[in-house]
Amino acid sequence: MSLDRTLFEQYWHLACHRRELAGDGDFIKFDGVSGEIVLFNDNGEIVAFDNTCPHRGARIYTDAHGNRPATCGYHGWTYKNGTIIVPEKERFKSCDIGRARFNTFQVEWCGDFVFFAIKPRTGLYEQLGKTAEILENISFNVDRRLDLNRYEYECYWPLAVENALEPYHIAAVHMETLATLQLGDGENVFDGVNSIWYAPLGNARLGNQLARLRKLFNIDYQYEGYMSIYLFPFTMISSTYGYSYSLQNFFPAPQGASRTRFTSRLYASNTLNENAARVLDSFFESTVRMNRQVFDEDHEVCKLLPKESWSIHALRFPSDAEVKIDHFRQSCRAVGETSLTALHQIQTSIDEAASLCASGAAD
Ligand code: FES
Ligand SMILES: [Fe+2]
Repeated sequence: MSLDRTLFEQYWHLACHRRELAGDGDFIKFDGVSGEIVLFNDNGEIVAFDNTCPHRGARIYTDAHGNRPATCGYHGWTYKNGTIIVPEKERFKSCDIGRARFNTFQVEWCGDFVFFAIKPRTGLYEQLGKTAEILENISFNVDRRLDLNRYEYECYWPLAVENALEPYHIAAVHMETLATLQLGDGENVFDGVNSIWYAPLGNARLGNQLARLRKLFNIDYQYEGYMSIYLFPFTMISSTYGYSYSLQNFFPAPQGASRTRFTSRLYASNTLNENAARVLDSFFESTVRMNRQVFDEDHEVCKLLPKESWSIHALRFPSDAEVKIDHFRQSCRAVGETSLTALHQIQTSIDEAASLCASGAAD
């Protein structure tokens, strides 16, 4: 199996926040190397499935997100309350229609963040390690989604992830946006395959302005600076002062194409009251604009990177601002080695079984 597929199918992926799927029929759709994944609210239960109707394979949802029952537009099969409703069921006498199932995947919660996995190699909390507690705290401080932004990055996904993992490019690529924060070197905290970069703001004037907004928020978790969390393999969460959180997924496109299925969400944190929310309207609007511009700038520079510029090996000329790239590549190498070990174990047991059969036949 390719690295892209192994990572997509054997790891947990952060899909969205509870508030994005709050109502019956709310759904959000993703697209990755193994096809589409939809998460939807089935009468209060969050269900993940492959967006494929078990009758004759039609896609159930075509929009990126919205609210609609999980009803197939072709003949009307519907997923409801964990079962399938089949119109004119009596016509299916020649088959065991009771065996028809949607192809569902595993769903787990970390605080109010929902994750999905196809065939995970570990439990969610084992994969998240110490980062789980931080994610729980963040999720409980999120109020609502302000923005959903989705497009295809014209580059291979590890290059988009590595771009998000290093601040070395900020001065050249984000001159008018992120660079205005004048982020300091800060500190990288590594936890298994995940990592967090905590960076103080060098722009004191902006720092003071941001600090003054604190009284308008009702939050009990905050890093007073810029924080960027990397959840191996495809997800980043970043925030300035904990007033909003930007969640980004960089899913590999099918067939190892040099494309990345990029989705970003911006969440507003809990505000003190409705009045404070109104006061913060323009602040949130400008945060949405700024985020979109930063991602456009990142996308433009990622387009310069051919697929061949990525390798699983350590960088030849790493700066101290690029340590997370080598950490990421190490994690990718470890995944490849684990898959090879698993393959080797399967091969050994097949060989052993074959030789047992052969000796049994000889007896
Ligand atoms: S293909 Fe979906 S109901 Fe027939
Ligand atoms: Fe960037």
